[in-house]
Amino acid sequence: MTWRADVLTIFPSMFPGPLGESLAGKAMEAGSWSLKVTDIRDFGLGRHRSVDDTPFGGGAGMVLRPDVLDAAIGSVADGAVADERPLIVLTPRGAPLTQKRVRELAEGPGVILLCGRFEGIDQRVIDARQAEEVSIGDYILSGGEIASLVLLDAAIRLLPGVMGAADSAVEESFSAPLLEYPHYTRPAVWAERAVPETLTSGNHAAIAAWRLEAARQTTKTRRPDLYNQYIASGALAP
Ligand code: ADE
Repeated sequence: MTWRADVLTIFPSMFPGPLGESLAGKAMEAGSWSLKVTDIRDFGLGRHRSVDDTPFGGGAGMVLRPDVLDAAIGSVADGAVADERPLIVLTPRGAPLTQKRVRELAEGPGVILLCGRFEGIDQRVIDARQAEEVSIGDYILSGGEIASLVLLDAAIRLLPGVMGAADSAVEESFSAPLLEYPHYTRPAVWAERAVPETLTSGNHAAIAAWRLEAARQTTKTRRPDLYNQYIASGALAP
């Protein structure tokens, strides 16, 4: 079955963008997923197809109008027609996107993504449509479009049959929540730097132990939050 993505944006030409290439592009050609992009401006008001207005209460920037957005959302997910897909608004105010949520989305029928722009989106349409507000990280992008591409990329690679090396996803969940160990390939010595000896030993148990230890140490230094989760999950202390 095809995983269906709808994107609502005022910059439709930003899609599929990078998702037309590589893994996601091939998966789209193969019919593993489909993308429909809706230009919010098609639902804009008046001669100028206006989509935004100044914020009540004052302040900088413009806010996307609820009536315009609701019409755009209705065109892809009419309340009368059952659409099982979650409506997700990409915004820095959202709950942080996690691999767990990405996995859930990939296992479902698809997503409807609403890209915010300007200062924001009128909260009433978010509430009325029971949209899920999602952020891809603690930094501010100029809009939700790139965040949508990130969410889609993360989900698409998990769709059945999409990932080239089928093992990759299994290994990822196996090593969670640790960061990955470092990778090496030929030449065995490059710029006077040798590959860690264990990796060329052919001793699979020793290699597995080396990788686990490398993953632990990297996680401990870079992401103490993940490391504490790892320890709490019952893993042996260092
Ligand atoms: N729009 C602007 N910044 C964003 C972020 N960090 N995540 C999701 N959408 C955004």
